[in-house]
Amino acid sequence: MDPKVSKVALIISSTRSPRACPQIANFVIDTIQSTSPGADEAAPSLKVIDLEQWNLPMFNESNIPSQVTDHTKYDHAHTISWSLEVQAHNAFIFVVPQYNWGYPAVVKNAIDYLYHEWKGKPAMVVSYGSHGGGKCNVQLKEVLRGVRMRPTTKTVELAFPSREFLVRASQGMDLEIDGTSESRVWSKEREDIIANYAELLELIS
Ligand SMILES: Cc1cc2nc3c(=O)[nH]c(=O)nc-3n(C[C@H](O)[C@H](O)[C@H](O)COP(=O)(O)O)c2cc1C
Repeated sequence: MDPKVSKVALIISSTRSPRACPQIANFVIDTIQSTSPGADEAAPSLKVIDLEQWNLPMFNESNIPSQVTDHTKYDHAHTISWSLEVQAHNAFIFVVPQYNWGYPAVVKNAIDYLYHEWKGKPAMVVSYGSHGGGKCNVQLKEVLRGVRMRPTTKTVELAFPSREFLVRASQGMDLEIDGTSESRVWSKEREDIIANYAELLELIS
């Protein structure tokens, strides 16, 4: 990995169909990119990792990942591929809904597969839900500390503005959100995202 270029991955952390997460991930990406022109070669790259496309089975390695320092020693090809994907990035943004006062099982499963690949890397959590998914946000950051990641101190919680919005999100309908200044919802939260992302980049350097 070129140490001069920050490689950030945004992890889409819900996998049901239909789902709101990809739209909300796009809102986060648009918001971040609205602050940086992107033409600068030294600008961080931002790649989307969709856990739905990874479709990892429930964790099925024979060893504790913290004891595996050579990724070729994992039992399964899917673990080696997942390891290489996570190794390729030096910071992560988790975009994650709150499910029953916690985070979706799929994201815990994806984290549990690995350890050294996460260790030491900064992470930012953008949670969403009726009230912003605060419980999910706190719990996920705790787990990230467990694999020795460095979560940002700043927080982003995207609260659904209405019951109708919740229904639309749950049904995967168009939420009419984008990360431009014209966006009708989450104008304060756009600032939170920008500040949180700045903290993430500081943690990388
Ligand atoms: C299993 C499940 C549990 C949920 N629990 C909560 C919750 O605890 N708090 C909340 O605000 N919303 C909750 N919701 C509503 C979600 O915020 C909403 O459905 C959202 O669209 C989920 O994100 P997704 O569409 O990307 O899966 C829950 C939804 C599901 C499917």
